[in-house]
Amino acid sequence: INFLVDKTRGEIIDTLVDGLEKLEYRGYDSAGISVDGDKKGECIIVKSPGKVEVLKKLVADQKVPRSTVFDNHVGIAHTRWATHGPATVINSHPHRSDPTGEFIIVHNGIISNYNDLRTLLLAKGFQFESDTDTEVIAKLFKHIYDSNLEEGLHPDLNQLTKLVLSELNGSYGLLVKSSHFPGEACGARKGSPLLVGVKTERKLKVDFVDVEYPETETTSGSAAPQNDLGLLPVAQGESNLRTSQSRAFFSEDSIPMPIEFFFASDAASIIKHTKKVLYLQDDDIAHIFDGELHIHRATKKKSDESTTRTIETLEMELNQIMKGPYQHFMQKEIFEQTESTFNTMRGRVDFDNHKITLGGLKSWLPTIRRCRRLIMIACGTSYHSCLATRSIFEELTDIPVSVELASDFLDRKSPVFRDDTIIFVSQSGETADSILALQYCLERGALTVGIVNTVGSSISRQTHCGVHINAGPEIGVASTKAYTSQYIALVMVALSLSNDTISKIERHSEIIDGLKKIPDQIAKVLKLEDSIKSLCKNELKDKKSLLLLGRGFQFATALEGALKIKEITYTHAEGVLAGELKHGVLALVDEQLPIIAFATRDSLFPNVMSAIEQVTARKGKPILVCNEGAKILSQDKVMTTLEVPETVDCLQGLLNVIPVQLISYWLAVDRGINVDFPRNLAKSVTVT
Ligand code: G6P
Repeated sequence: INFLVDKTRGEIIDTLVDGLEKLEYRGYDSAGISVDGDKKGECIIVKSPGKVEVLKKLVADQKVPRSTVFDNHVGIAHTRWATHGPATVINSHPHRSDPTGEFIIVHNGIISNYNDLRTLLLAKGFQFESDTDTEVIAKLFKHIYDSNLEEGLHPDLNQLTKLVLSELNGSYGLLVKSSHFPGEACGARKGSPLLVGVKTERKLKVDFVDVEYPETETTSGSAAPQNDLGLLPVAQGESNLRTSQSRAFFSEDSIPMPIEFFFASDAASIIKHTKKVLYLQDDDIAHIFDGELHIHRATKKKSDESTTRTIETLEMELNQIMKGPYQHFMQKEIFEQTESTFNTMRGRVDFDNHKITLGGLKSWLPTIRRCRRLIMIACGTSYHSCLATRSIFEELTDIPVSVELASDFLDRKSPVFRDDTIIFVSQSGETADSILALQYCLERGALTVGIVNTVGSSISRQTHCGVHINAGPEIGVASTKAYTSQYIALVMVALSLSNDTISKIERHSEIIDGLKKIPDQIAKVLKLEDSIKSLCKNELKDKKSLLLLGRGFQFATALEGALKIKEITYTHAEGVLAGELKHGVLALVDEQLPIIAFATRDSLFPNVMSAIEQVTARKGKPILVCNEGAKILSQDKVMTTLEVPETVDCLQGLLNVIPVQLISYWLAVDRGINVDFPRNLAKSVTVT
């Protein structure tokens, strides 16, 4: 959205499309934009299934005129990951209220009562073009706007948005533009991320840092008339609320100065333009009007609610999210683990004095230590990092720990008590299942801890306390460096919780010494890349299935390895607890089935060896991941041996997982798969 900035339509389109490209790493399946046409009130919508590249070509093919100059313009754009309805042109966003596009919407999330709303709007004579839940929002805007006009009321865009939101159930991060409100836009969020970037030549004054907003204005009293949709029209006399009650942070400037605002669900798409961002909170409505940003609340203000929004300066550089010399983001991220693991520990681990300081957790440690039990909740790879560290948590803290998949935890409506501590682990901090589980636990009064990579994300803001894993942006859909950093962050939490337990001092020192060596040891494991490349090319390329065998600390590695292989090579893979092999999976073993076995030295090594012998006895030729110089089986009995350095038992998974990350990567490359954007998957799953 630009004010007093002369821009051609072409430049505006390029900004929007470029922003979408920066979001592609999340793995979406269609894209679209909407910009103003040449005539007043006219809008142009271009959308298409497929990658942003396809949209770009379409814009060029349709010869959307580029030269028209605007000094005030709102354009919106979206990449979609199909929830309601397949990826088609018509289901792509933006969606419109009517063929002329009086209201145009983009939306992330799910409107759970969309069916009821659709039925009501159909009865009102609206015709729907798509199968999406989003389209009801666009129609609802028009319906409420028209009903208000009939009543002689003239709601502004913020008031209208508020009325629409009051009818929606579910989650949203949404934007609206309208031909009735040229040069204005509203963004609103509930359960889906949304931020506002601000770019201006104006010097930001100190009090710009905090944007305050007033007590929420109510849109109508209880006696307000209801229309037959149950939608409340705007009460009279509120038309000046926007200027009288919300404070714009540039209002003192009398000389008009150019300013641009950017709404985005992810800072990556706007970082090129500005580093100044304001993260909206649930139920915020950000209204851009006349070159000013106004924050309103969609709901009545609660007494304990903060009335401050802070403009933050992002530290993230664009080149941090670029590929560098690597072929794919995933490869880059695998190789980055030498630094990302160190960054997770930076400033927190005192290697000389064997001390851990986690600033975001410090004051909560006594409460956590007193908890009845610890529950770790996560999805996908993050869930595996919980499994990988559960045992060291139990050993060091003597608190019972359970590990839960967020969706299953919610399905079971598992009991949660006020004296529980619940740890939420998430790379994005935006995974809908994890957020719902977090809300469920908050409602029940438990203490919540976030282990999150994305600063400012929903989980990092909504938990009581936590640790940012500081792995840097992860772009490849298949998580790699986030896993190792989550793992380390969780080990650090376990160490912090037990740092005053005398009986654990020795174990502490051993683990902290181990952590110190991890980045260098990872660098050593990465040297296996060439042998892994030829293993994939020569032995694994045509295999239809793989087993991964692990036990104790290495069961999580087996599960994580199998997930990596499934995600990006589209090959069936199964992580098997070595002790369970004989209870069924052994039936699959023959000379054809590749089996990756984690046989590094720890107390369960003899048990793993017995499982491996069960495999070799059936002519299976395992790929062994073992410690350097271990020579546990003769070369003729194995497909290959991948040697990794030895570390403390509870940290060994950090090293063992890297060969399987590389196997999945090179297997996917051999198969010509788009490694960073595997089919059907999204980086950040913001729907349940
Ligand atoms: C998606 C991603 C996985 C990720 C999972 C949990 O399924 O494809 O790679 O592990 O979400 O995401 P989170 O951001 O919560 O760690």
